[in-house]
Amino acid sequence: MQRTAVVTGGGTGIGKAVARELVEADFQVLIVGRRPAPLAEVAAELGSSVDTLALDVADPIALAAAEFPERVDVLVNSAGGNTDIGRERAPDGDLIGLRDSWLANLTANLLSAMLTTERLRPSLAEDGRVITIGSIAAQYGAAGYGAAKAGVEAWNAELAFTLGAAGITANVVSPGLTEDTEFFRGRLSEQRRATLIGRTANKRAGLSVDVAAVVGFLASPASRHVTGQVLHVNGGAHLGG
Ligand SMILES: NC(=O)c1ccc[n+]([C@@H]2O[C@H](COP(=O)([O-])OP(=O)(O)OC[C@H]3O[C@@H](n4cnc5c(N)ncnc54)[C@H](OP(=O)(O)O)[C@@H]3O)[C@@H](O)[C@H]2O)c1
Repeated sequence: MQRTAVVTGGGTGIGKAVARELVEADFQVLIVGRRPAPLAEVAAELGSSVDTLALDVADPIALAAAEFPERVDVLVNSAGGNTDIGRERAPDGDLIGLRDSWLANLTANLLSAMLTTERLRPSLAEDGRVITIGSIAAQYGAAGYGAAKAGVEAWNAELAFTLGAAGITANVVSPGLTEDTEFFRGRLSEQRRATLIGRTANKRAGLSVDVAAVVGFLASPASRHVTGQVLHVNGGAHLGG
């Protein structure tokens, strides 16, 4: 039987590279994102092994109503990003603005992954996989975004035990700077880029294929005893523990 994968955020960046990796591993892949256009482009590029679903995965009502495959072997939660990028910083003392900024990051990164996983939980195949894209920001701050990604790690730790008896694994893949994505919205300065690369052991920026390769391993039968973990893909910029 052909295995089925759902990849949120599959229209661009890391999610798109993951979709390609899973198509190459013979999955039928449903890619999910809010904008139909990037999804359609990926489907045109990768062919009939890809289906698309335009959906906001942070919206519980839309999630509940959406149609997903009856059986899901692999769920990859890649939708997310730092919602502070491109948004005006709340002035000091503006607690409502600050709360809104944190809520936006928590919703986009932590609640979206948790809600999508809960929506698909009844459909997860025995020996299935839940893989969520975290971030090196979980270790280094970045305000609400870092807190949201740290929350993803804590949620994943519990999820591994919730799903473990069914042979389903739950892991976080945590990238550092990853180029060829829309993450920075074109706002990464040369100076900041050089600083981030300078923190790596291998003195290079990551690419979405570097992250997708690790997701590909986790999606494979060979990874069955790896669960509850955070796998770091950052060129050594954070030495994971
Ligand atoms: N690039 C990096 O340096 C880096 C580093 C560490 C971690 N990450 C993480 O990697 C993941 C993938 O990001 P990326 O780097 O590939 O950036 P990206 O190109 O901006 O990809 C994010 C994708 O998520 C989708 N998305 C966002 N919110 C969504 C929602 N509520 N519902 C459905 N789809 C949603 C976006 O499409 P729509 O806008 O059309 O919905 C987009 O396709 C994110 O979780 C990010 O935090 C990235």
